[in-house]
Amino acid sequence: MNDSHSDALVFFGATGDLAYKKIFPSLQAMLKRGHLNVPVIGVAKAGWNLDQLKARAKESLEKHAVGGVDGAAFAKLCALLRYVDGDYAEASTFQALRRELGDAKRPAHYLAIPPVLFGPVVEQLTRANCTSGARVVIEKPFGHDLVSARVLNQILLATFDEDSIFRIDHYLGKRPVHNMLLFRFANALTEPFWNREFIESVQITMAEDFGVQGRGGFYDQTGTIRDVVQNHLFQVLANLAMEPPVRTDSESIRDEKVKVLRAMLPLEPTNLIRGQFRGYRAEPGVSKTSTVETFAALKLEIDSWRWRGVPFYIRAGKCLPITCTEIIMRLRQPPTMFKNFDLKSNYVRLRISPDIDLAFGMNSMADGSETVTQLAEIVGVRHPVLADMDAYERVLGDAMTGDATLFAREDYVEEAWRIVDPAIKANTPVLEYDPQTWGPNETDQRVAPPGGWQTPVVTSAASAARN
Ligand code: BG6
Repeated sequence: MNDSHSDALVFFGATGDLAYKKIFPSLQAMLKRGHLNVPVIGVAKAGWNLDQLKARAKESLEKHAVGGVDGAAFAKLCALLRYVDGDYAEASTFQALRRELGDAKRPAHYLAIPPVLFGPVVEQLTRANCTSGARVVIEKPFGHDLVSARVLNQILLATFDEDSIFRIDHYLGKRPVHNMLLFRFANALTEPFWNREFIESVQITMAEDFGVQGRGGFYDQTGTIRDVVQNHLFQVLANLAMEPPVRTDSESIRDEKVKVLRAMLPLEPTNLIRGQFRGYRAEPGVSKTSTVETFAALKLEIDSWRWRGVPFYIRAGKCLPITCTEIIMRLRQPPTMFKNFDLKSNYVRLRISPDIDLAFGMNSMADGSETVTQLAEIVGVRHPVLADMDAYERVLGDAMTGDATLFAREDYVEEAWRIVDPAIKANTPVLEYDPQTWGPNETDQRVAPPGGWQTPVVTSAASAARN
């Protein structure tokens, strides 16, 4: 382990939902790969002891780890695991943490806790002398709007340098999201048409066939735009729209992403549809009069040399008919002489989940006919394999080695809020939709790409691979 590697991992929220669903499975995966060999200190206020945390870790692995509990890795995890129980407002909690840290010189403090606690926890860490040489890893959403994100950045920057702050967006840890840059910039085939001359519109769909899954309290403070659009889907958009970075180091890549956001105009309230699935208000933790959206469709513009005039559409929602994240980039039609044919726009289709596709949609003659055309796809498809790193495993590992490429930088986060802030605050109506439909009917009339939204087709094999 070199000096820049974190020599302890502290995670706040150790008894919470995120730890249960994502963090323990990622820790086991890191252990299996030999990527984790430092004390792991859980912190929470649950009145628990270390044995209870170990039992919780085991249950989490049984339920959420690929392949269940791995005996050897779990034994190692138990040997590395420590636990501090206490209130985040109490100095004694952080003094106990200080003792557990021993002579660790570069701990990584991972805050898997509600955003309102980020500030107080960082202040307590500083007071208890736990921040010298340390890194801080922050869960999304980073702030609630532009003002709160700025305040949070100030709090963090008062204690940590920007290169010690890791703002998690686990979408960046997904291999197909990262692969988008390789697909674009390592292939001669793609780059020549990746611009306003050829691309007519871009649409990104993130559909989930489930509701808020017991996270009503969190979700009702958040909504779809803050939960997945301002972060995950903007990152996807930035990967699609950025210019080639001059080098592959983290800052060169992140510089280009920020430029995409800087060129984006604020979201117009008229270019936004917000929806809420029927039954949402009856979910535990949700207000009976909630006007929080569980669906959003929006149209954005990037006012840059490459993209001016090309609309970018995003739609995301809970309780939609399927679970799938997919991008469609439609190309302009050529000035063809085949005027009597029902020709469709060519497109590039990039699927991020549940399976991973790269496809080109093209017109060709239909089988057995010379007068009818059909859309054929040239497709490369792959199901995620067990050996793949999970997104959380990748980002946690990167934070501990100090590689910031897959994390959101301060200026990026603030730009992202600048774009959505006015529309979020405009209090546009929230329209009801039936569960297992594609959101409010108005979406197709008001916020839809030319040629309409393309419904992703998910095979049962792909869905099975997800589960
Ligand atoms: C999280 C959101 O960040 O991402 C959830 O809070 C969402 O609401 C989830 O379901 C989707 O991520 P993944 O990796 O499960 O597709």
